[in-house]
Amino acid sequence: MATIADIKRPVEAEWKQLERLQSECLRSENKLQQEVLTYISARSGKQLRPLLVLLSAKICNPVTDKTLRTAIALEMLHNASLVHDDVVDSADTRRGAPAVHIRWTNKVAVLAGDYMLAKVIGLVAEVRNTQILEIVSQLGRSLSSGELAQLHVGQSMWINEEQYNRIIELKTARLFQACAEAGAESAGCTPRQRKALCEYGRMLGLCFQIKDDIFDYSDLEEIGKPTMSDLSDGKVTLPLITALQRAPQPEAEQIKAKGERLKDIENAEEKARILEEIKSFVLRFQGDEYAVQRMLEYKQKAIEALSVFHDSDEKESLLYLLDYAINRVQ
Ligand code: IPE
Ligand code: IPE
Ligand code: MG
Ligand code: MG
Repeated sequence: MATIADIKRPVEAEWKQLERLQSECLRSENKLQQEVLTYISARSGKQLRPLLVLLSAKICNPVTDKTLRTAIALEMLHNASLVHDDVVDSADTRRGAPAVHIRWTNKVAVLAGDYMLAKVIGLVAEVRNTQILEIVSQLGRSLSSGELAQLHVGQSMWINEEQYNRIIELKTARLFQACAEAGAESAGCTPRQRKALCEYGRMLGLCFQIKDDIFDYSDLEEIGKPTMSDLSDGKVTLPLITALQRAPQPEAEQIKAKGERLKDIENAEEKARILEEIKSFVLRFQGDEYAVQRMLEYKQKAIEALSVFHDSDEKESLLYLLDYAINRVQ
């Protein structure tokens, strides 16, 4: 499998420019805010979204200053959404370290995330492109709608595949789509190129979130965030949705009853035992394998979308990025 360094190769020089500009953008006049930003940038994650912005720009035309600012803005938006997401999901670790709300407090996490979103607006304003502004403002609404939908307020937690698809579309695929689209736009793409990259980004994002949801049923330490945490937090994802659909109804009902009780169980051992039982239920009905099948279908659609582009190093990297999203261990 190609590594991120391999995928980055066609935009290596632009990546260096991006890093320089990013360190300037990470400054804040507020001391606490500065500490949080430094904490986050010292644990920078995979930075796939800015990489997608650069590759999507360069597959069309040379990268511009607008491309770099767009890439920084979208990674900042991603980071802000993770700071907030860890509060919402009560997740204690992120990128192998305490999440911001654990290192400081929930209050700091909420406000620091807001500050980062304000920075995003500033960066996008500097780009001076109304199309990119539109892409990012719509994206903000999608992300929040996806996160809100996932709370299932007033609704059953036992969503079906269609509802699951809607959530991952909003909370994850739209961000990848926006990176590809805004990247292309920043380099003055044609409408045909923009449409192709929009579809590619969306498909990549769907694969990416399905893989993340499969991770939750794995024991991989490299992930750097908790596993078996989605269900404990009332989040039902594709592997479990599939297993519940495939299992005989009485067994599915039993599993659901246990799943619903999880949030009230205080005893850690009992909780771990139920989670283990649900995990082996998912594996027995091959819920994870079905999720892999879905990713492969999306990958195929993404490859088809890229057929409007001639062969190039950037195109090769975008193809590798799909494999990376599906086969990654982190
Ligand atoms: C995490 O995204 C959030 C999801 C959409 C699953 P990443 O796995 O890209 O997070 P970092 O930025 O590399 O830590
Ligand atoms: C990822 O949500 C998408 C957003 C943060 C908007 P998740 O809750 O599924 O991602 P992880 O597993 O915490 O990274
Ligand atoms: Mg989360
Ligand atoms: Mg979440």
